[in-house]
Amino acid sequence: MDMFLLSFLIVLFFETQNLYAQQNYSGNLVMDCHSSDSTGPSPAFLYSCNGKKQSCKTFLIYKSQPPYNTVSSIANLTSSDPLELSRINNISRITVLPTDKEVLIPVICSCSGQYYQANTSYTVSSIDDTYFTIANNTYEGLSTCNSLMRENNYSEFSLDVGMKLRVPLRCACPTSNQTANGTQYLLTYLVSWGDEVPAVGKRFNANIERVIYANGFSKDDLTLFPFTTILVPLSTEPSTSQTIIHHPPPPDYHPVIPNHQIRNSRKGFHVWIILGVSLLFLLFVLFMVFFLLKKKIDLGRKDKGRKKKSALPEDFLNRVAGVDLGLKIYAFEELKVATEDFSTSNRLSGSVYRGIIGGQVLAIKKTSRDISNEVNLLRKINHFNLISLYAACEHHGVFYLMYEFMESGSLRDWLYKRSCPEVQNWNRRIQIALDVASGLHYLHNFTDPPYVHKDISSSNVLLSRHFRAKIANFSLARAAEAEEHVNSSLRLALGSKGYMAPEYTEFGLVTPKIDTYAFGVILLELVTGKEAVFMQDEREMQLSETIILVMEKEDAQARLCCLVDPILRSRCSMEVVLRMVRLSLACLQQEPESRPSMAEIVSSLSKIQLDVHRSESVLVRYV
Ligand SMILES: *[C@@H]1O[C@H](CO)[C@@H](O)[C@H](O)[C@H]1NC(C)=O
Ligand SMILES: *[C@@H]1O[C@H](CO)[C@@H](O)[C@H](O)[C@H]1NC(C)=O
Ligand SMILES: *[C@@H]1O[C@H](CO)[C@@H](O)[C@H](O)[C@H]1NC(C)=O
Ligand SMILES: *[C@@H]1O[C@H](CO)[C@@H](O)[C@H](O)[C@H]1NC(C)=O
Ligand SMILES: *[C@@H]1O[C@H](CO)[C@@H](O)[C@H](O)[C@H]1NC(C)=O
Ligand SMILES: *[C@@H]1O[C@H](CO)[C@@H](O)[C@H](O)[C@H]1NC(C)=O
Ligand SMILES: *[C@@H]1O[C@H](CO)[C@@H](O)[C@H](O)[C@H]1NC(C)=O
Ligand SMILES: *[C@@H]1O[C@H](CO)[C@@H](O)[C@H](O)[C@H]1NC(C)=O
Repeated sequence: MDMFLLSFLIVLFFETQNLYAQQNYSGNLVMDCHSSDSTGPSPAFLYSCNGKKQSCKTFLIYKSQPPYNTVSSIANLTSSDPLELSRINNISRITVLPTDKEVLIPVICSCSGQYYQANTSYTVSSIDDTYFTIANNTYEGLSTCNSLMRENNYSEFSLDVGMKLRVPLRCACPTSNQTANGTQYLLTYLVSWGDEVPAVGKRFNANIERVIYANGFSKDDLTLFPFTTILVPLSTEPSTSQTIIHHPPPPDYHPVIPNHQIRNSRKGFHVWIILGVSLLFLLFVLFMVFFLLKKKIDLGRKDKGRKKKSALPEDFLNRVAGVDLGLKIYAFEELKVATEDFSTSNRLSGSVYRGIIGGQVLAIKKTSRDISNEVNLLRKINHFNLISLYAACEHHGVFYLMYEFMESGSLRDWLYKRSCPEVQNWNRRIQIALDVASGLHYLHNFTDPPYVHKDISSSNVLLSRHFRAKIANFSLARAAEAEEHVNSSLRLALGSKGYMAPEYTEFGLVTPKIDTYAFGVILLELVTGKEAVFMQDEREMQLSETIILVMEKEDAQARLCCLVDPILRSRCSMEVVLRMVRLSLACLQQEPESRPSMAEIVSSLSKIQLDVHRSESVLVRYV
């Protein structure tokens, strides 16, 4: 009886807790298409259904963008009432809105299972549409990739023009506490470049404390990420006079304000928007994971952390200029615990260890080299296909860099140790090639002059649990140089055997095209399952030369067939093999100028991928 009462009280307690719980801001976790919410309601997914009402009227902010810049097109996109839409925005049905003007979208938000959502539908209109682009680009972050994948039965790759998708939009209804305080609506606000929480709150007449509460922010961390949403508690209907036209960030918008300045200024109410680079896709998984990690760790030892930060050796901070911009610094003792005193069982390879910090698995690289280059580069770049750097540590002149951990190890091991043969199929290999190409494309284009990795090889490509590839080891990376600055006699070519472009080994010339060359070799490894340098009849052979020779022969196709990785042969289409090999040969041209750019390579590989998917789905249909 007592037990029963106790458990009843406990249940009641948690229920009550939940009833009053606010929604937590999830940063750009929403960008992750494959995050799971098995641990319970995830704010990264949609807002949890914890309000007073199961259903309510509410408003979303959407920024007009062609073709969604009229009442009818926006109403169609969001399944909202066009009359209500034109009333609340004080526009007529024929008004064409300027691009990036905020539009108020009236919707009905209701619980569906554990999440709130406003339902709409979207008809796939281009072959370039993916769940990610629909959520991020078309709906601008009002929906998430992950929730789209859940609502729709189509696989990621089978989206085709004309398919109708169900789209849940992010929305929420006020909790009882919020209602008690006079909140009528929770406006789903779409974060843009340069937005700050206090400014947004002010614009919508919302009490800043309530905004902070509604999104579960901590007062000294109000970081916002573009293309995500926050909830703004409103006591009255929003009005069009509160909306503004946003401007895209200038192309050279860089993170200029160091973190600590912001922290100390005006009670930390400033928000810093990281990486305003208007340049390219794929946002800041790094920052988001870093903040989550930080949150977790801070819970455990709130005060300790601060002391540690100020106790850092001054010169370490100087050497790693800008460490403050988002890189966590750890004490060596924490690393020792994380890696069980750098035990051999935690050694991944060479001087790289596996460690668990704050519940998260990280790869920890030990080095005595100057790491400022790598740190400065990695903290500037954020791309799904480039490895993320989370934290660093210095101890007696030795540096420790902590990266995201890649469960499936290096591409090299995967290919040659034949781990997981069941997933060694064409689709996966093409995806890996595409991943590497996308990472390089970003690296080569996010700055001017471009950055060059200089050491692309299958050992420096790592695979995640889902076999998505990321480029790692940026220790040699640096900015490209103009040809006239090259002093050939003095330069020692560093890189991996079998991957180095001729102009680099001969003249030390560093341009993005040396990465293209090395990428050509990786493509061949993916097709043949042979190493870049392999032994044949006790002679060392370069894979690139072998294939070039084969392709010059008259019976090239027949010979090539024997070189295709045996794992792939049974299901291999010679046409795909030829397309991959031809692409690779284009990368392996002697003249750097004749090699394609990574943009062209990404585009070719996407076409190959699409064709492979198409032919497979045809096969499946007829089987
Ligand atoms: C937000 O986070 C807090 C603790 O960080 C948690 O107690 C609360 O349940 C979360 N709210 C939601 C809606 O997930
Ligand atoms: C939008 O318009 C298309 C075609 O005109 C139609 O098929 C679709 O159902 C409409 N969507 C909504 C949500 O009204
Ligand atoms: C709506 O717009 C008209 C002019 O286009 C303006 O005169 C009027 O004051 C506006 N109404 C509101 C409520 O903003
Ligand atoms: C929205 O869609 C979900 C799933 O498709 C469904 O369960 C729910 O009932 C719908 N809500 C409304 C209000 O139609
Ligand atoms: C969803 O897909 C599964 C397997 O692909 C299929 O068995 C099921 O019938 C599909 N459901 C709907 C509603 O299309
Ligand atoms: C919500 O209100 C209840 C009583 O009205 C109070 O006990 C609870 O602490 C409040 N929760 C929060 C998070 O403010
Ligand atoms: C309600 O208002 C009180 C006083 O203004 C404030 O302390 C409390 O945090 C507010 N609660 C919510 C849920 O915003
Ligand atoms: C998300 O969409 C915006 C345009 O709406 C685009 O500028 C941005 O690059 C996209 N983000 C990613 C990661 O692709």
